[in-house]
Amino acid sequence: MPLDADDHRLDTAYAAAPGRYSDVSYRRAGHSGVLLPSISLGLWQNFGRNRPADRQREIVLHAFDRGITQFDLANNYGPPYGAAEKTFGGILARDLAPYRDELFIATKAGYDMWPGPYGDGGSRKYLFRSLEQSLTRMGTDYVDVFYSHRRDPETPLEETAQALADIVRSGKALYAGISNYSAEDTAAMADLLAGQSVKLLLHQPRYSLFARHPEGALFDTLLERGIGSAVFSPLAQGLLTGKYLSGEVPAGSRAADSWYLDGSALTDDYLTRIRGIKEVADRAGLSIPALAVAWVLRHPAVTSAIIGASRPEQIDEAIGASTAVLDDAVLAALEGLGAESGAGLF
Ligand SMILES: NC(=O)c1ccc[n+]([C@@H]2O[C@H](COP(=O)([O-])OP(=O)(O)OC[C@H]3O[C@@H](n4cnc5c(N)ncnc54)[C@H](OP(=O)(O)O)[C@@H]3O)[C@@H](O)[C@H]2O)c1
Repeated sequence: MPLDADDHRLDTAYAAAPGRYSDVSYRRAGHSGVLLPSISLGLWQNFGRNRPADRQREIVLHAFDRGITQFDLANNYGPPYGAAEKTFGGILARDLAPYRDELFIATKAGYDMWPGPYGDGGSRKYLFRSLEQSLTRMGTDYVDVFYSHRRDPETPLEETAQALADIVRSGKALYAGISNYSAEDTAAMADLLAGQSVKLLLHQPRYSLFARHPEGALFDTLLERGIGSAVFSPLAQGLLTGKYLSGEVPAGSRAADSWYLDGSALTDDYLTRIRGIKEVADRAGLSIPALAVAWVLRHPAVTSAIIGASRPEQIDEAIGASTAVLDDAVLAALEGLGAESGAGLF
């Protein structure tokens, strides 16, 4: 008989919702023992020092209360770099520590993090020291998955693979992942890790109706090799919602506040596509974001869609979509409306 859920949780004001595991579905990450929620929460935006801490806490706890167990971070999420991990660490210490074994925490290293030659790329030095810093910021002994955030063309793949394998063996990460790697490099990394008896658990590519490049070689590789995927920016950073339909950038939206999306994305071509997607969504009885999330989840290579959220209701909308099944007519109607954001920016 398991311990009553509240027995060891009397020292925190937060108590997780008792029914939290009934809202979201869980999918197996490739050929592994790990189940991940079909919707995960990413802390790239909205969790730096530029947002109120009480709102950040509300969003994270709401996600957990709705059954989201996977929280996706990286060393340099902020602003400033490291701030999102600190924010998450604060919530972990205050509220979620008793639930640590119910959480699947991801972090990454690969892009610019600290000055000098060792704070960027794919070297053993960078990956080991960055993970140590991430653990300190989050106040946890281990992460569940540690990703090489990008393929660093200047570092031999063997060095990055060896570092990931040794990190997993050290117990500071339970699993290894890669992000933004090509199909070819993914296969090579999977082989190198397998040679060390370490499983490549997850790939993290950008994937949405506006970023379809993983279809084909990458997803085929993942399916063939039993590698899961946690796909990011399924709403194209919010373009695949109703908020930009007028062509204006509303105050408080990501296009108004972030460096990573601005009004230049609202070209006539994209606006026409978004309006077309809205018509399909209306006919399907879904909102645009619900349709966009359901669309990425339809692909058999996708384990989880990592959404971002600036308010708790956005999480509810994604979770509502996670069980929607899109019929052939809807999928066919969307075929001509998707796109490939050339620079891959959203
Ligand atoms: N591995 C990588 O290289 C990489 C790169 C990028 C992202 N990621 C991961 O993926 C996560 C998600 O990325 P993302 O934030 O770009 O995902 P996204 O889900 O495509 O966009 C999220 C944004 O869309 C808006 N939104 C979400 N739901 C909405 C709704 N129902 N109605 C209206 N607006 C809605 C919100 O922005 P506003 O309300 O502010 O407008 C929200 O912050 C990141 O946090 C990170 O963990 C990984």
